[in-house]
Amino acid sequence: MMLEVKNLVKEFGGLVANGDISFELRQGEILGLIGPNGAGKSTLFNCIAGYYKPTRGNIFFEGKEITGWPPHLVTRVGIARTFQGMKMMPNLSVEENVMIGAFCRTSDRQIARKEAQEILDLMDLNGEARVLPTELPIALQKRVELARAIATKPRLLMLDEMAAGLNPLETKEIIEALQRIKEEKRLTLFLTEHVMEFIMTLSERVIVMSAGKKITEGLPVEVARQEKVIEAYLGERYAKGR
Ligand SMILES: Nc1ncnc2c1ncn2[C@@H]1O[C@H](COP(=O)(O)OP(=O)(O)OP(=O)(O)O)[C@@H](O)[C@H]1O
Ligand SMILES: [Mg+2]
Repeated sequence: MMLEVKNLVKEFGGLVANGDISFELRQGEILGLIGPNGAGKSTLFNCIAGYYKPTRGNIFFEGKEITGWPPHLVTRVGIARTFQGMKMMPNLSVEENVMIGAFCRTSDRQIARKEAQEILDLMDLNGEARVLPTELPIALQKRVELARAIATKPRLLMLDEMAAGLNPLETKEIIEALQRIKEEKRLTLFLTEHVMEFIMTLSERVIVMSAGKKITEGLPVEVARQEKVIEAYLGERYAKGR
């Protein structure tokens, strides 16, 4: 098993943001995570990636326990993530932002630059290497963030709301880019998203959370049909379109 989360609890004071979450993620799989605002999706990502320390429970990556490890060690073990609100360095160029990812594996500037250039190529971003990320449209900024995550050479890539703010064409393009990169880099993907087209198209399996709890998991088509899922979340957003 690539990732195993066992009975994970994350509390903020009296608020249970993650209440006893357990699931597994296989090598090469694409797992989606959905749920309404405040369900605890980003909290779960933050616990796995080391940004939050779990209150209880255990996280194993490739058999090794990583519970409570700080972000830089989680990155080095092979887990990368993007952020719901993008976190790029506004005063560094696109290429330098991607180099930051590469610096988690090397301290050599030349190597980092070469790796950044290769990834920018792969993402169709080489024309943008010298500009500041903030000068780009959102869709390209998301690609830069993706490129920076890939530069850390992850085996597991976690994407927190990659498609938010993108139009349907841009959404389709990022789905295609992700599928291409997943094959080329042999990645395992874990993604959260409110854009149903994105999550239902990409995911092989979906976990549904609501109010801190995992309420179900299964194939996207099966999950979308369940009454408790429709009630908790899909209701207006998806059920109508079936
Ligand atoms: N650092 C924090 N301190 C206190 N409360 C937090 C913190 N991070 C998250 N929470 C709370 O935990 C709950 C879950 O939040 P989380 O951001 O994980 O939800 P989400 O499913 O990602 O929602 P969204 O779809 O809006 O991104 C919310 O009630 C939120 O206010
Ligand atoms: Mg979130």
